[in-house]
Amino acid sequence: MQKMSNKKIGFIGTGKMATALISSIYKNRPAKEIIASNHKEENLKKVKSKYNIRTTLSNKEAVKNSDIVFICVKPQDIDNVLKEIKNEVKNQLIVSIAAGVKIRHIEGILGKKRVIRVMPNINCLVGEMAAGFSKGKYATKQDVDEIYRVLNAAGMAFLIGEDLIDSLSVISGCGPAFFAYFMKHIADSGIKKGLKKEIAYNLAAKAMLGTGKLLLELNLTPSQLIGMVASKKGVTVEGLKVLDKRKIKQTMEEMFNAALKRSIELGK
Ligand SMILES: NC(=O)c1ccc[n+]([C@@H]2O[C@H](COP(=O)([O-])OP(=O)(O)OC[C@H]3O[C@@H](n4cnc5c(N)ncnc54)[C@H](OP(=O)(O)O)[C@@H]3O)[C@@H](O)[C@H]2O)c1
Repeated sequence: MQKMSNKKIGFIGTGKMATALISSIYKNRPAKEIIASNHKEENLKKVKSKYNIRTTLSNKEAVKNSDIVFICVKPQDIDNVLKEIKNEVKNQLIVSIAAGVKIRHIEGILGKKRVIRVMPNINCLVGEMAAGFSKGKYATKQDVDEIYRVLNAAGMAFLIGEDLIDSLSVISGCGPAFFAYFMKHIADSGIKKGLKKEIAYNLAAKAMLGTGKLLLELNLTPSQLIGMVASKKGVTVEGLKVLDKRKIKQTMEEMFNAALKRSIELGK
């Protein structure tokens, strides 16, 4: 496990994604090093009772008490939050997870401040996040190392150019839904033949989990893994032939491009 620094981490907004991030960061840091703010007391109660972290109704207070501030509000709320905290940001590293909000936009409001933009994914809830992040003009090499440490505690993270963040988010952000769609329909076909729903869905989930583990732990490419399963004249090959006949490869590319187009549109 990577050594954690003792930097204090703040979260502005304590919704789904902030809670998921807190749940993994919390495992590696003392609760007193984490502070979260929200504009509603009832939203703070949940994170307070679950993680016993410090909470505040004041976003400025969260910034003042942090070295790294994760801004976890919806994209439409981020401008108000940035304007509100602008004067409190001195030496803090600002990390935005807002989808579609560009670093230059954040720097435009905050001025010459160290900014990092992260695209997390929902698997963060179980410590299996696949995230990407990009650095702003003023963020340093140390900031990048620090963010690697924080995000890797929740899964895996990659530094990429901001121009590729939309493509990354289609794979890792939308990916869980796409894979779940695929597995649902494989499982549902088994259910039609008589398998119990609970068994079919568990088999599908475990197949997906194991596939990911095999790829990562044995450092395989997807094609190599397909080759390991699909022996000549075997069962899997018959299924794969249908995927080819139905042009599923092209359909997947179409799906990717449609999601990418929407992601770019939302970021405008
Ligand atoms: N969910 C995902 O899978 C996902 C994936 C990648 C990136 N993201 C990004 O993560 C960010 C958060 O998404 P989410 O799904 O976690 O949203 P969410 O569940 O709605 O959380 C946002 C939280 O911020 C609070 N909030 C709103 N305005 C605030 C303010 N001025 N000060 C303090 N708190 C405020 C909201 O309270 P109220 O709602 O009660 O007003 C809510 O508790 C978004 O920018 C999204 O683009 C999400």
